[in-house]
Amino acid sequence: MATSVPHGGKLINRFDVSIPVKHIQSKIELDSISLSDLELIANGAYSPLTGFLGEKDYNAVVEQMRLEDGTIWSIPIMLPTDEQTANELSIGREAKLVYQNTVYGVIHVTEIFVPDKQKEAENVYGTTDAAHPGVKKLYERPDVYVAGPITLIKKPDKEFPAFHLEPKETREHFKKQGWKTVVGFQTRNPVHRAHEYIQKAALEMVDGLFLNPLVGETKADDIPADVRMESYQVLLENYYPKERVFLAVFPAAMRYAGPREAIFHAIVRKNFGCTHFIVGRDHAGVGNYYATYEAQELISQFEDEIGIHILKFEHSFYCKACENMASSKTCGHRADQHLILSGTKVREMLRNGEYPPKEFSRPEVIEVLIKGMKKADTKV
Ligand code: ADX
Repeated sequence: MATSVPHGGKLINRFDVSIPVKHIQSKIELDSISLSDLELIANGAYSPLTGFLGEKDYNAVVEQMRLEDGTIWSIPIMLPTDEQTANELSIGREAKLVYQNTVYGVIHVTEIFVPDKQKEAENVYGTTDAAHPGVKKLYERPDVYVAGPITLIKKPDKEFPAFHLEPKETREHFKKQGWKTVVGFQTRNPVHRAHEYIQKAALEMVDGLFLNPLVGETKADDIPADVRMESYQVLLENYYPKERVFLAVFPAAMRYAGPREAIFHAIVRKNFGCTHFIVGRDHAGVGNYYATYEAQELISQFEDEIGIHILKFEHSFYCKACENMASSKTCGHRADQHLILSGTKVREMLRNGEYPPKEFSRPEVIEVLIKGMKKADTKV
């Protein structure tokens, strides 16, 4: 299989610096989530979307995980604004899209509507509980949705310029490397041995690994993106073959929507040019909201339609009896032989300057994380 066809058939490009904006009176303030969504719509990462969803597409996504035309799409990409701003907009007119006093884009307003957020929460996140970080964010964002096609007129500043690539650029890179098959790996965490194990198991089967950490908005107790980026680089430098791995950021916000987000993550990686995508245990999950393999079960139902091979991995760990990395699929030893540390436990160790065992995480990675945590603490 050659590099994958974008979702919906073609890579969307909605970037145009030549659009005049001076005459446009209306404006909508973006938050950091909608700014990143604007960029990702414009550069084709969210193909086939050309703008923020209208009501029919929104309802179809919420209720059936599809756009109105039937295309699989699992996470609503919406532009929320407050009532006052919405009252000043006109249907059929343009509005400037502004973030911190800079105009980044223009929306041609086609619809303004008030969503049923409880229903969105229940269907997309599987819960209406405001303690769920994705649901909390959904409730906190303003209550009116503005829809319409967008144009990006200025690219947002890149936090990691060397690693910030558009789908057309990642596709070119894969081609240049001669990779016919590429596996995408989503992560919002440092790469520990279990992640490394499943990445390398996947890499045994394909030509290249696309390490694509999400660096948009995450919840406060996730490890900050700048620290993670440094940790990925030391890991790749020390433990991966350079010619087989490509690191680039995914600047979207984390939704923590578990199974539905796994589908979204797979579609986006298809747009970046991946032919394969890894879904492990509790993909994009948080707390106990989703069962360990719920994301795998949901995505399996749509794998053919999504058009990317899903590589599913069971819970992986170091097994003392095997003296090796393994998973619940490949190891028959008792649980007390398995080295498993919770995220909370690891963060506590890092804060105390303690190194988890090297069977859990590479020491070079831990060193970066401890240094990063110390710096973050002194900032507070
Ligand atoms: S996520 O929210 O981005 O999914 P994380 O960065 O922890 O969180 O996971 C990245 C990918 O690795 C996901 O596909 C996840 O399911 C998988 N994964 C994480 N830890 C393990 C593990 N111990 N065993 C198997 N898969 C895992």
